[in-house]
Amino acid sequence: MNEADRAAELRRQIAHHQRLYFELDAPEISDADFDALVDELVAIESAHPELVTADSPTQRVGSAPSGAFAPAPHRVPMMSLDKVVSFEELVAWGARTKRLLGLDDEAASGLRFVCEPKIDGLSISITYERGRYARAATRGDGRVGEDVTENVRTIETVPLELAAQPTGLPAELEVRGEVYLPIEAFEELNARQEAAGEKLFANPRNAAAGSLRQRDPKVTAGRALSLFAYQLVSAEVAPVSVEDATSGEKAVELETASALGRQSDSLELIRRLGFAVSPEIEVVAGLEAVYDFCQRLEERRHRLGYEIDGAVVKIDDASLQARLGATSHAPRWAVAYKFPPEERATRLEAIMVSIGRTGRATPFAKLRPVQVGGSTVSLASLHNEDQVILKDLRPGDTVVVRKAGDVIPEVVGPVLAERPEGLPAWQFPKLCPVCRQPLVRLEGEADTYCVNAECPGQQLQRIAHFASRSAMDIEGLGEQRVHQLMEAGLVSDATDLYHLEIDQLAGLEGFAEISARNLVEAVEASRHRPLSNLLVALGIRHVGGTVAQALARGFGDLDRIMAASREELEATEGIGGIIAESICSHFAAEQNRAFVERLRRAGVSFGAETASDKAQTLAGASVVVTGSLDGFSRKEAEEAIAERGGRSPGSVSAKTRAVVVGVSPGASKLAEAERLKVPMIDEAGFRHLLETGELPAGA
Ligand code: IVH
Repeated sequence: MNEADRAAELRRQIAHHQRLYFELDAPEISDADFDALVDELVAIESAHPELVTADSPTQRVGSAPSGAFAPAPHRVPMMSLDKVVSFEELVAWGARTKRLLGLDDEAASGLRFVCEPKIDGLSISITYERGRYARAATRGDGRVGEDVTENVRTIETVPLELAAQPTGLPAELEVRGEVYLPIEAFEELNARQEAAGEKLFANPRNAAAGSLRQRDPKVTAGRALSLFAYQLVSAEVAPVSVEDATSGEKAVELETASALGRQSDSLELIRRLGFAVSPEIEVVAGLEAVYDFCQRLEERRHRLGYEIDGAVVKIDDASLQARLGATSHAPRWAVAYKFPPEERATRLEAIMVSIGRTGRATPFAKLRPVQVGGSTVSLASLHNEDQVILKDLRPGDTVVVRKAGDVIPEVVGPVLAERPEGLPAWQFPKLCPVCRQPLVRLEGEADTYCVNAECPGQQLQRIAHFASRSAMDIEGLGEQRVHQLMEAGLVSDATDLYHLEIDQLAGLEGFAEISARNLVEAVEASRHRPLSNLLVALGIRHVGGTVAQALARGFGDLDRIMAASREELEATEGIGGIIAESICSHFAAEQNRAFVERLRRAGVSFGAETASDKAQTLAGASVVVTGSLDGFSRKEAEEAIAERGGRSPGSVSAKTRAVVVGVSPGASKLAEAERLKVPMIDEAGFRHLLETGELPAGA
């Protein structure tokens, strides 16, 4: 793969993981792995500036708002922070600021820094009008966040009324800080989730994000969220004094961040206004002292009662801050010192093997439960046989466990000094732990498989995958329930779910009438999931959410995808040769086609189900949509095209029938349309095109 392709691939992966992290609160990879992707992209882009694209994640902060809440533009962008992970990197950052400011050694050694804990929550901007709580927004992509006013209002540590100041208050004042969930509250919440049979949160940060982004503020209110404020954003507006009304005193403008001389002063002011400011914050001189702070903070990080993932180091002097300014995404006067991933020792009780939906036999560690990074770890994947051998892990060992980014635990290796004498090496089992048929590892492959197509272990995973959130999203149907249904002989593959009846379920252990009804209704609701979910549910190799959406956009219904040739698939935006091949071979297999037919008979919708009642005005045509339209969301516009037999690929080509141009269209699409002389139409023209299949006059 050349570097341009690699950069594009990285951008795609980063966007995918950002969406999982920021919008769905369901990360699939650790923060450290995510950072590694970003670091690799940054490295390629700095070596090849010509490869930087306007929409590269390196040029943006966070992810675009999801649309679930009203957009809330930030008057001052909410920036990100550059990070360092070692003393050397911290010194390099210091040297750069010294050079940019033109300081001599003496001045540099006396430079004052505010050292703050880096709270692992989510940043929020809160605006007060005349001292009263007015609105709150998440960071979103840094420019536009989501309006979470009603939810933030329920957080007890957010004052609804600012404390009166002798100098009065500005008409408008914005405070930024981090919303977080204390660890105790996180544990209580997960206990409640478990009792209710709901999904557990991976860590306090995800729980905080999930709690804040609730549609019903009452749910947020029950979640014990808290706030540490750390920044005052200047408000260049006419001052009013809160004392005005009562004392008749003359209003005086309150100094705000830019006018205040120091970050430490503004923290003090924030505190006086009534916010919680972290008590861990210190002001120190020189980088040695900064590093000392970072180390002391790391030592006590687990005694704080909330999660932190590092320290934030800010130059105290506001005039120096102003001179340093910012890059496109981060201020130059601050840096995040990230703690290295945390490690803990515990006992490896056993190495077991789990069978996945493809039959892959994955070894995993059963550990004596240990607290790492704010949550309890008792299981960790060991990936494959070679990994276990390479690390020489033996049941009975004391092992070091790391929780990189607090998402996915990893066994680093054994503590050899503590290995009991004569501890035997581990051997990969010869038989599948579920069906007792032989396990197979092919020459030259890393993975071992159970190749028994009938293996109930595989079937269970396939059904659980089918029901999972990113697939058919059948609420309340997790692995254990599937196991129970299989044991009871009620289901042997996912299509059987569509024939379950309340009476059959009501007799099973743990199924009251109501939960039986709920499950049947959840199954019922899944019949009409979007095509992309159905595609994920089918479990085709290499077809995850992003690819499934590309397929759905490109083809509109499952039958067309099944009928598509390799070439047709490959011509679709976002689908490469390997994926196309995998899709073709999936649908070439008789049992997979039979499965699809059973789904059809069960009444599962295959995509543009309304196609038949809409005139096929766009049959075979491709129409590209760019920018936002008034009457259609992006998805609705694409559906409208697909329903009329058309396709809506993500890029313009010579074959594109028309480009629909909305508000803030993509510059590259417009340029491409211009270059290839593809007609451009507005929303009214789009409606006309949908209706008649004809371009409006003059397009
Ligand atoms: S200052 C322009 N201070 O870290 C600088 N950020 O990686 C804005 N964070 O988006 C941030 N604790 O969500 C600052 N004491 C602290 C922080 C903090 C946590 C978060 C914040 C920010 C992210 C940047």
